[in-house]
Amino acid sequence: MTDAADTALAAQYEAYPYPLRDPRDEAKRLIVGSPSHLREVDHWIFGARRPASQPFRALMAGGGSGDGTMMLAQHLARAGREAEVVWLDRSAAARKVAEARAQVRKLENIRFVNGSLLDLPDPSLGQFDYIDCCGVLHHLPNPLAGLKGLAASLKPGGGIGLMVYAPHGRTGVYMLQDALRLLAPADQPPAERVEIAKRLWKQTPETAWLKKNPWITDHIQGGDAGIYDLLLNPRDVAYSVPQLVALIEEAGLALTCLVEPLRYDPDIYLPDPRLRTRTAGMSPVERAALAEAITGNMGIHIAYCRRAEDPAPAPAWDDPASVPVLRELDGAALAKGVQAGNGALPVAFDGLKVMLPMPRLAGAILSRVDGERTIGAILDEVVAGGASREQAERDFAALRKQLEPLNRLLLAAPRG
Ligand SMILES: C[S@@+](CC[C@H](N)C(=O)[O-])C[C@H]1O[C@@H](n2cnc3c(N)ncnc32)[C@H](O)[C@@H]1O
Repeated sequence: MTDAADTALAAQYEAYPYPLRDPRDEAKRLIVGSPSHLREVDHWIFGARRPASQPFRALMAGGGSGDGTMMLAQHLARAGREAEVVWLDRSAAARKVAEARAQVRKLENIRFVNGSLLDLPDPSLGQFDYIDCCGVLHHLPNPLAGLKGLAASLKPGGGIGLMVYAPHGRTGVYMLQDALRLLAPADQPPAERVEIAKRLWKQTPETAWLKKNPWITDHIQGGDAGIYDLLLNPRDVAYSVPQLVALIEEAGLALTCLVEPLRYDPDIYLPDPRLRTRTAGMSPVERAALAEAITGNMGIHIAYCRRAEDPAPAPAWDDPASVPVLRELDGAALAKGVQAGNGALPVAFDGLKVMLPMPRLAGAILSRVDGERTIGAILDEVVAGGASREQAERDFAALRKQLEPLNRLLLAAPRG
């Protein structure tokens, strides 16, 4: 099903492939994030139980100019894994950018397909171990139908990484969208609308909520594509946590986790014991909804999901042969940071600072997490350094309890 807004959406991404990227930049840096970081896929989707040697197929549904595609394909190539990453999008202009980026990176594990994700499942594309759908569902005429198509394209045991807009962190966006519907109606040429949006932003009164919203920067840093996507988009719908979970469940999926899980734990913001007795009685979804409501700064939600009939992935933290990894962190540097923080680790979620208490042996353990050593080897070394085994095990468990929900300390895919 398409409608007038969907036709306008297709025209938007043809005129302004999103996000705005210069393929030459691929020689200088790799953009990483969530969902679809390979460390996250291994851990949150497969519970770090799917061997790295097993062939892997991923679909990037609405891949756009290719941020997620470059990241996942590059991670897989770097790790020497046998894999195919299928980029699927309607926008020929976005494909051009994504293909040029892949060329600069010399990536040969990406297949580019022009088409609509509304036509999924598609036998010519086959089934996938993992599907990324980042920043797309909330633009569709029928997000539920879109997500059901993705779910039907998933292999048993596979998973989906989603990103959708969230309401509170986008405060001010929808007001300016209303303003621009009046000032730059949808029937005007895209370039003209962007020009009017730029002029409006310069003169928007200080009282406008978007002026006070530090978390949304697409209209400032994202070029014309960012302005169009944020303020002139023909359709975008924001999902609160309960709305997102309802969407996921109606599509026949189950929520595995929101990223970062810790951010959705209200207790990290609420030390008051009387409030804690109330949060203790809440369901996981209620707790996440509470965290969303009290922080007010979530502009997106990232969710990993699985087929409802599949068991929740359970990483083997109690297996000494498991290999822990730090996602985008250096163990030795982190160990120093913990020392400097007097045994606590400062973290920030979109400007919201939280101090995470760290166990005594945090530094000794973290400095040994290198993606090679097993949990058993790390504990042996810490014990050889003078700690009791009981203390080393207790502190490893405490560290994991803090850093896994932070999406930082994860388990690697087994090699075999
Ligand atoms: C906001 S961009 C997100 C791009 C990319 N996933 C990312 O996060 O960088 C949305 C993309 O979804 C694509 N899209 C929207 N509706 C689609 C559909 N029905 N089928 C395929 N692609 C679609 C657009 O062309 C656009 O490239």
